[in-house]
Amino acid sequence: MTEIPLFDLNVHHAPRDLRDRVALGFTKMLRFCADTFFAKRYGHRAIVLETVAAVPGMVGATVNHLKCLRRMCDDKGWIRTLMEEAENERMHLMTFIEVAKPTLFERLVILAVQWVFYLAFFALYLVSARTAHRVVGYFEEEAVISYTLYLKEIDEGRSANVAAPAIARHYWKLPEGATLRDVVLVVRADEAHHRDVNHGFANELAGLAPAETVAPYPEHAEQIRLAA
Ligand SMILES: [Fe+2]
Ligand SMILES: [Fe+2]
Repeated sequence: MTEIPLFDLNVHHAPRDLRDRVALGFTKMLRFCADTFFAKRYGHRAIVLETVAAVPGMVGATVNHLKCLRRMCDDKGWIRTLMEEAENERMHLMTFIEVAKPTLFERLVILAVQWVFYLAFFALYLVSARTAHRVVGYFEEEAVISYTLYLKEIDEGRSANVAAPAIARHYWKLPEGATLRDVVLVVRADEAHHRDVNHGFANELAGLAPAETVAPYPEHAEQIRLAA
């Protein structure tokens, strides 16, 4: 069984300036909308929010890639890290789509939100990459909280602890009898890793010391596709 890394669940970057406060305020507003819309439907919540979570990594990778081409400079490993983050978030989506099925209304919400969020995040990244990474760091703080609440729902019997989908067992190298609870634990560890990486990138761009510790990433399969 893949090891579930130990990490601090309660990391919070205290805002230090106006940009941080804007990033935190924006995140808290979106959290309020998500809480109002989904309440405790954690499977549905995971699907819709993971379609959003997979956007920033690809935007950050694209913008950094173009910048490095223009300036003919090294990317310090950022591009691959961000592309991997986007892929990892897409695997969260592909996992939860096996657990819950989005309603037609939720599919329409996903379409609308993707238009708005992609364009808005792209514009934000061009204007202030530092604020964009801070926003993602705060999003991921909230994701860790949400998956902790999902675990509570499972442990208290309000959400069925169904068998882990095959795609998740493969991706996180989980054993045969793994359950949804095991999946939520590794997904939460992924989110904690993204949280620390993105706060670290924002710190670097702000000229601050990088995060002291980065939550370790769980092990992932090298080939994300299941054998046909
Ligand atoms: Fe995620
Ligand atoms: Fe994430």
